[in-house]
Amino acid sequence: PEDSVANPPPEAEEAAAAGEANTKPISTILIVMAMHTEAAPLVSKFKLVEDPDRSMFPKGVPWVRYRGKYKDLDINLVWPGKDPNFGVDSVGTVSASLVTYASIQAFNPDLVIDAGTAGGFRAKGASVGDVYLASAVAFHDRRIPIPVFDLYGIGAKQTFSCPNILKELNLKVGNLSTGDSLDMSPHDETAILANEATLKDMEGAAVAYVADLLSVPAIFVKAVTDIVDGEKPTAEEFLQNLVLVTAALDQAVTQVVDFISGKCISDL
Ligand code: ADE
Repeated sequence: PEDSVANPPPEAEEAAAAGEANTKPISTILIVMAMHTEAAPLVSKFKLVEDPDRSMFPKGVPWVRYRGKYKDLDINLVWPGKDPNFGVDSVGTVSASLVTYASIQAFNPDLVIDAGTAGGFRAKGASVGDVYLASAVAFHDRRIPIPVFDLYGIGAKQTFSCPNILKELNLKVGNLSTGDSLDMSPHDETAILANEATLKDMEGAAVAYVADLLSVPAIFVKAVTDIVDGEKPTAEEFLQNLVLVTAALDQAVTQVVDFISGKCISDL
């Protein structure tokens, strides 16, 4: 009916606006990384500089923004910084959510890339040094055994689909399960299995939640530092492989960013 053309319903306007955004070249990206060791080589590679202006973040937070122009892209790489009390990297879902939220608000990115390391499951085909693009994310440590709250706790979602990135780059694909512990309790193990995950990290599903809430497409590039279903103690294997695997991670992120440059969201 003519009426609906003159007065499109708000959802139609939203969809049209989103469609337009998807067909203009990507100009601003937000890369979220939890550890300084993971971020440092990319900061050099993209010639990013730490932004001395901290006014986009609340006063006193340890969050760090590195910025720069790479090809035609405005790159913002954010790292939640060192915990003010303990002096270690602020890993985990709480810091990742906060810094993702504040950065999306401040920089209005066209795309979020959560890049980091993860544990991998040998039974699902993962080896140390493999780099994955996560096809779905979920939590494995949010147990709420009440109907529907249980599903909310798990928070499973498909990630933004990018068939052309997968066609072009040599990345593996698998589900990512997120929790706030590096080790794995028996319950975590059951939940990770139920999430059909190949990968286990400490930020992905939290970044996905925030990006989804704010309607920004997000992708998850994760490199395997340790084999969760292997013989070696996780913490030891993780620390041993962190620097080496970071090189593989950063190479993959660079390839993804090179691919994105000059493209629209709908080209991914
Ligand atoms: N990051 C790297 N290895 C991990 C693991 N096994 N669990 C959670 N996060 C990780």
